Amino acid sequence: MDIVEEIKQKTDIVEIIGQYTKLTKTGKSLTGLCPFHSEKHGSFVVYPTQQSWHCYGACGTGGDVISFIMKKEQLSFGDAIKYLADRKGIVVPEFGQNNANKEKNSRIISANELAAEFYNEQLNHSEAAAPVREYLAKRGLTPQTIAHFRLGYSPKSNDTIQKLLQDRGYTKEEILSSGLVTQTERGVIDRFRGRLMFPIHDIKGQTVGFGARTMDNSNPKYLNSADTPIFSKSSLLYGLDYAKDAIRKEDKVIIVEGYMDVIVPHQYGYTNVIASMGTAIGESHCNILKKLTKNVVLALDADQAGEKGMVRTVPLENVMDNEIKMVSIPDGMDPDELMLKDSTLWPALIEKAEPIIDHIFDTTFESVDIKTVAGKSKAVDLLVPIIANISNPIRQLAYVDKLASITRVDKNAIIDRLNQNKIATYSKKPVESAAKSAPVASRPVESFCLSILIRHPDALAKAEDLDEEFFINSENKSILRYLRGQETQLDPLMEDYYTKLAGNERVDDLYEAKLEEVVLRLREEYLKRSASAASELAINEGQALGQVYKAKDKLVSRHRSYYGKKESI
Ligand code: UTP
Ligand code: MN
Repeated sequence: MDIVEEIKQKTDIVEIIGQYTKLTKTGKSLTGLCPFHSEKHGSFVVYPTQQSWHCYGACGTGGDVISFIMKKEQLSFGDAIKYLADRKGIVVPEFGQNNANKEKNSRIISANELAAEFYNEQLNHSEAAAPVREYLAKRGLTPQTIAHFRLGYSPKSNDTIQKLLQDRGYTKEEILSSGLVTQTERGVIDRFRGRLMFPIHDIKGQTVGFGARTMDNSNPKYLNSADTPIFSKSSLLYGLDYAKDAIRKEDKVIIVEGYMDVIVPHQYGYTNVIASMGTAIGESHCNILKKLTKNVVLALDADQAGEKGMVRTVPLENVMDNEIKMVSIPDGMDPDELMLKDSTLWPALIEKAEPIIDHIFDTTFESVDIKTVAGKSKAVDLLVPIIANISNPIRQLAYVDKLASITRVDKNAIIDRLNQNKIATYSKKPVESAAKSAPVASRPVESFCLSILIRHPDALAKAEDLDEEFFINSENKSILRYLRGQETQLDPLMEDYYTKLAGNERVDDLYEAKLEEVVLRLREEYLKRSASAASELAINEGQALGQVYKAKDKLVSRHRSYYGKKESI
């Protein structure tokens, strides 16, 4: 079976999404608050039988479990696959094993090395970079540090890096796949313009991409390289090549949030510090770190420490086979600011790190009044599912004891609840088997539409009102973006599927008429999905008609061209 299909089949969308928002069963579907925008009434629906989701509110988007993770964790298709595969112990074949891919990857690395050298040269010598040199001095970086981390500056130009690569013999295709350029409607332009450049190395020290900070408050504040087969945020850790020896020697790794928060501590001699790339630490990161140490300390600012994200870190303890600790930095400072204020405070702060579960206990008890019966019961409700995540039985029992003694709830009652929780986890099995019968493969109408567009590129112009949202399947969404030049390359995991689509000769005959029909059908199904989501939600909230009408109005106006003058769906 295709690896992507295997992952979809073994993954339960309800379980995954349930970690980000509380879902309540309503009929055949589940609803909750949308995890992508803030709202008071749930307009987010998950359909277990279809293994799909849809936000009926401000987002108006939807898809399958892969597109959910891509959107929520800001991951590329390939990274989302890895993220989901890790959770099920599925091994994703490494691309780059065969010689053709190895050759391609080494070209990407050499292009990025060349760019790093060029950007660094610009930072050190160009006149345009004078304010950036000043900025770095103000942030406390010495010239040695700038040289060590090979920081750079990308000129404000649309084609400097392209020209440089071209001059050095890189083909158009190689330049496109380097992650250093962006495809726009008006052509290919340099991706990084007027930014402070942080080269990102793999564990061997090879440059695989960049993080780039704005120097003029433009958005986003930090921009990363486009995804390439070797620039994978779910397994890269910034600074790891410089930190790995210290991590081994000190038998401890400290994970911070930003590039500057890695660089400044290194400057002061604390060299076991690394950062993730703007995404949460995941299993792939842990699998890499585990080879160096079992002791992980997260150094977080106060915001993050209070965040629900901590709860998702708990299962990573099972990967590390050890507890994970955290410190929160005082006075809302970032680690780099603390360093500059008084670097000698760092070791004592790290010493004070507290296991994340203890921290979750603390914040829970701050939010409920355990003197009242309702408060006790709420605390037990909140903490039992977290304790259930601990797979080491001795640690698990220790936290049961702790919960019992703080709330003064009988320990056996808590153990009963814990067992119920486990049964609840087991009873998810029927859902999993429902997942198996669910249409994990692409719906034929989606594949058919793409086959036409792949085999007849001239038809693309006629499919302008084909909206990405009409597709549920995330591969199909990606392929459509790729065909439209909005993505420069397809993830290698999709190549077989793409070839299959490209081989469907049945679409050729009268393809233009077929396309028109198939786009209409996709649109209709999309509207029906949205409308049924709307009615279920409305019923759910007991404000039936008003909301359905409003919802339908919205749909009709969004798709007026299709419905013409029709007033209702
Ligand atoms: P912060 O916004 O906290 O920035 O993002 P910072 O690291 O403190 O940056 P300085 O100190 O103002 O220079 C923390 C990290 O989150 C990622 C980056 O990795 C950043 O270092 N990030 C942030 C992004 O990837 N994109 C963004 O738009 C913002
Ligand atoms: Mn900062």
